[in-house]
Amino acid sequence: RPAALIDRFGRRITYVRLSVTDRCDLRCVYCMSEQMTFLPRHQVLTLEELARLGRCFAGLGVTKLRVTGGEPLVRPNVVWLFERLGALEQIRDLTITTNGTQLARHSRALKDAGVTRINVSLDTLIPERFRKITRLGRLDKTLAGLEAARAVGFQRIKLNSVILKNRNHDEVVDLVRFAIANGLDISFIEEMPLGVIGDHDRAEAYYSSDAIRRDLEAHFDLLPTIDSTGGPSKYFRVAGEDTRIGFISPHSHNFCGDCNRVRVTAEGRLLLCLGQEYSVDLRRALRANPTDDERVKQAIVAAMAIKPRGHDFDLGVKPVIFRHMNMTGG
Ligand code: GTP
Ligand code: 5AD
Ligand code: SF4
Repeated sequence: RPAALIDRFGRRITYVRLSVTDRCDLRCVYCMSEQMTFLPRHQVLTLEELARLGRCFAGLGVTKLRVTGGEPLVRPNVVWLFERLGALEQIRDLTITTNGTQLARHSRALKDAGVTRINVSLDTLIPERFRKITRLGRLDKTLAGLEAARAVGFQRIKLNSVILKNRNHDEVVDLVRFAIANGLDISFIEEMPLGVIGDHDRAEAYYSSDAIRRDLEAHFDLLPTIDSTGGPSKYFRVAGEDTRIGFISPHSHNFCGDCNRVRVTAEGRLLLCLGQEYSVDLRRALRANPTDDERVKQAIVAAMAIKPRGHDFDLGVKPVIFRHMNMTGG
């Protein structure tokens, strides 16, 4: 029996989010600043190191891996990593969070590698707005990616929409209609204050999950469900439809009490909480012990002692966390 990962508060860690690159082909206003400096290559874990970490976590009772970025699909040869992770027998859920721009060419390979679920970031259905929010993107490219993922047979694809007042808050009903029409789930996300991002005012852009729910309830019957994907979303079902609507509300509804996850940043820091800086350097553990997985596992187990109770995000002006979202992919 594998040793289980349990923290000081008795929470079992069964879900690991692996960031495979800090790079991205977009520059979403809530995630990055326009000018970003990315990590030099030697500071980023190699694909072999990432595969090794996946194996170590699987050996410690982890059953769900989510590959994130930056944008994971801009990492060269990333499909090789999915194949390795997909071959781990203990991993029941192998998932990816992507902006969708490269899905048209990678969907088939991801499916074949054993990816079980895909989350696609999509905040608006209006091309000019898409360009403004992502700074570099084209809506049609992400939509084509979504279509490709559906075409190769992915089920329960989920849209992630970060809702910002005066940028896209008036689109929540249209986004849900789009999800229903295309057989998708959708999560609405309150923006989190990570990184210094320049021209975008986070306090001003705050739009609460409760406001979104109120807007949706004028058009849809929302039924509470106990469905869970093991993530922070609270889910509702649209009456008469297959679509589930999730709300990720770090500001208005704290969900840290049943946190089940840790993250690995692109440079190999095991990050114990998205909203705190407690971390352990797994890159050093990997590189100091090139053939000894047990030493790496010991470092992971020891890290459980510093997992904090939760984040303390604050909508005020001070950015508490200077790390940008692209280091962890959310
Ligand atoms: P599934 O539930 O598996 O579909 O995925 P998920 O919602 O956990 O992951 P995804 O990568 O799609 O992330 C959606 C949003 O949830 C992102 O904005 C993440 O930053 C946020 N999120 C995921 N886990 C946490 C967490 O532990 N804390 C906080 N504050 N946000 C989280
Ligand atoms: N707050 C909330 N969500 C964010 N994302 C990126 N930056 C932020 C932020 N500051 C979202 C992306 C993606 C998910 C992984 O995280 O849109 O869907
Ligand atoms: Fe790229 Fe995702 Fe960040 Fe947008 S939110 S810049 S798509 S990593």
